[in-house]
Amino acid sequence: MTTDRTDVDHLVVAVDGPSGTGKSSTARGVARALGLRYLDTGAMYRAMTWALLQRGVDVSDPSAVAAESPTVELGSGTDPDRPVITADGTDVSQPIRGPDVTQAVSAVSAVPEVRAQLLAMQRRLIGAGGIVVEGRDIGAVVAPDAAVKVFLTAATDARARRRSSQDGGVTANLGLTAADLARRDRLDSGRAASPFAQAADAVVLDTTDLTLDEAVEAVVVLARRALAPDRAGPVREPGGNEAH
Ligand code: DC
Repeated sequence: MTTDRTDVDHLVVAVDGPSGTGKSSTARGVARALGLRYLDTGAMYRAMTWALLQRGVDVSDPSAVAAESPTVELGSGTDPDRPVITADGTDVSQPIRGPDVTQAVSAVSAVPEVRAQLLAMQRRLIGAGGIVVEGRDIGAVVAPDAAVKVFLTAATDARARRRSSQDGGVTANLGLTAADLARRDRLDSGRAASPFAQAADAVVLDTTDLTLDEAVEAVVVLARRALAPDRAGPVREPGGNEAH
């Protein structure tokens, strides 16, 4: 049986980009708008990191991480209104956002065995499609056949502001937040295993001056165009550029 990747039940929308670009809110908004499932792959890497820290694993030691990670049982829901993530049966949706996990997650996600383990799980969850998937390597590695691929970017100060407001002001110092974003960008794009590379066929969306609704709408427009390519005329995108 062949599946049509541009039919809504099989559609895969890949939303990639660094943190602070509005990736999660945008991806969830798109899933809600189109009635699709939603998968946060960053949360999976965070949940793995949480579990390893919890077990006292030295996350700076790749072989220790590789030895322990297969024994961690992760679970991920795909409801955009209630994205639950579990590690060994515990709901870790809240603790995975803490500073200790944020500090350690780049090291854990650089370990090839962890990436292979989570890649298999991500592909299982994507299944036949009908899903918005957010991460860093979705369009390039996890779902290279996705019918819609978006790469979100934003100016560094806008990213730091968003990150800080997400933390509820915990990281009130914008300079420190910006420095931490830069540190993670460097680690995530400089690593040997699957360094982040924007998929060549991804549409770049700069969210610096977009509201959340505008960012969601821009991606929804791309998805609708992929779903009904014959009916979609030129579409005016935020910023005034006409996209074809
Ligand atoms: O999007 P986020 O900040 O929650 O992601 C947490 C970390 O997980 C990030 O530092 C990079 C890593 N990550 C990854 O390696 N591959 C993905 N597909 C998603 C996230």
